[in-house]
Amino acid sequence: MAVIALKCPHINVTVVDGNPEKIKAWNGPLDELPVYEPGLAEVVGEARGRNLIFSDDIARNIEKAEMIFMAVNTPTKTEGEGAGMAADLRYIEACARDIAKYSKSDKIVIEKSTLPVRTAEKIKEILEENSTNIHFEILSNPEFLAEGTAIQDLFKSDRVLIGGDETGSGQNAVQALVDIYANWIPKEKILTTNVWSSELAKLASNAMLAQRISSINSLSALCEKTGANINELSKAIGMDHRIGSHFLKASVGFGGSCFQKDILNLVYLCRHYGLDEVAEYWHQVVKINDYQKDRFAQKIIDTAKKNSNKNISVLGWAFKANTNDSRESPAIYIVGKLLEENLNVQVYDPKILADQIKFDLINYFKSRGHSYKKAELLLSNLSVKNSLDLVIQNSAVIAVLTEWKIFKDFNIFSKIEDTVKVIDGRFFLNEI
Ligand code: UGA
Repeated sequence: MAVIALKCPHINVTVVDGNPEKIKAWNGPLDELPVYEPGLAEVVGEARGRNLIFSDDIARNIEKAEMIFMAVNTPTKTEGEGAGMAADLRYIEACARDIAKYSKSDKIVIEKSTLPVRTAEKIKEILEENSTNIHFEILSNPEFLAEGTAIQDLFKSDRVLIGGDETGSGQNAVQALVDIYANWIPKEKILTTNVWSSELAKLASNAMLAQRISSINSLSALCEKTGANINELSKAIGMDHRIGSHFLKASVGFGGSCFQKDILNLVYLCRHYGLDEVAEYWHQVVKINDYQKDRFAQKIIDTAKKNSNKNISVLGWAFKANTNDSRESPAIYIVGKLLEENLNVQVYDPKILADQIKFDLINYFKSRGHSYKKAELLLSNLSVKNSLDLVIQNSAVIAVLTEWKIFKDFNIFSKIEDTVKVIDGRFFLNEI
């Protein structure tokens, strides 16, 4: 929304949230915005107060708006039908009810959140049941930005996808949104489709990207057995222009709030339509990811257990570089397992604070069925350091779990004794 405001000074963009603390932070100092994203503070700095407003007055702003983007979260369901797989649509449904309740004129409602196919039908139903004499046109406009590169992705999108109804009013709504993006995106990169293609294209794109990572990660296991080098393999494969070099970087496993959630959602959809083989095919992408995380955790545990010094250093907590987001980060799972083995772990991440790391681990322990008391006990073997120099001290094993550039530049091998083992889950510079 900040980028739309920046690129379209003639359009007023108001971002609303029910949590006044969050809104206060978005209106606060630019170097303390709630999301760390390179370039974001500059964009907000230019547009805020001009045509970009942050407000907690949901009712008034729904009433005033002509177009409403629904950008609430759609986590994986934790209970009820489809638990562990299907998307939890309760926030989307609550948002639709609010829109219906406060609208006094026709609106274009846009699905920005990633949603299962045919959610637009459900949103329309809620909007119509909870309002009278108002016409709502629903569009799907999934977001393809990646964290850490969000601003450059939005400035130069590979494509903008807009799905709408094939009716006259549907096509008018599509055109209204095309006109907004056309302020900075070349027309040939704006793709219009029907709503269902647009919803499914988002899930399918993420599934295909994650599939490449699981493919290369599965081959990293074979490299370790055969003496082939995964970086060389990845380069050789990626030089085929039909394959391409992106998303072929082996890793400790993919994390983030999207890939696993979206693939499980796709698996659930396939099962729902009786396509069990298709469901299983995509499920395997997540299973290989779990296998990869597990393999790394086990490698660290085996190496530490051979050593009388049981201190392990973990470099990186974020799910990828250049973000302060740790959702579904492989580090949570790996460090959780190490602590369950009673190993001592010291962690450093340049952007994630100790409170967040502890919060992530408590949630992980809860998901494993540990009591709060046990979780606290397990956490007593964790210490969070605030520099690279400190985190590698007194360590038997160093695990690299996020591809922060400073970790690569640090030249770890020149700073440690030969006896210290490095298990590199990101750069694969020197495998043990
Ligand atoms: C992903 C997609 O890339 C975006 O296009 C999409 O819009 C977004 O999900 C979303 O659905 O919102 P994101 O999760 O922010 O974006 O980050 P990615 O760059 O895709 O990285 C995901 C994970 O894969 C990270 O843990 C990263 O380290 C890992 N990864 C990525 C690899 O292990 N190897 C690679 O070659 C690339």
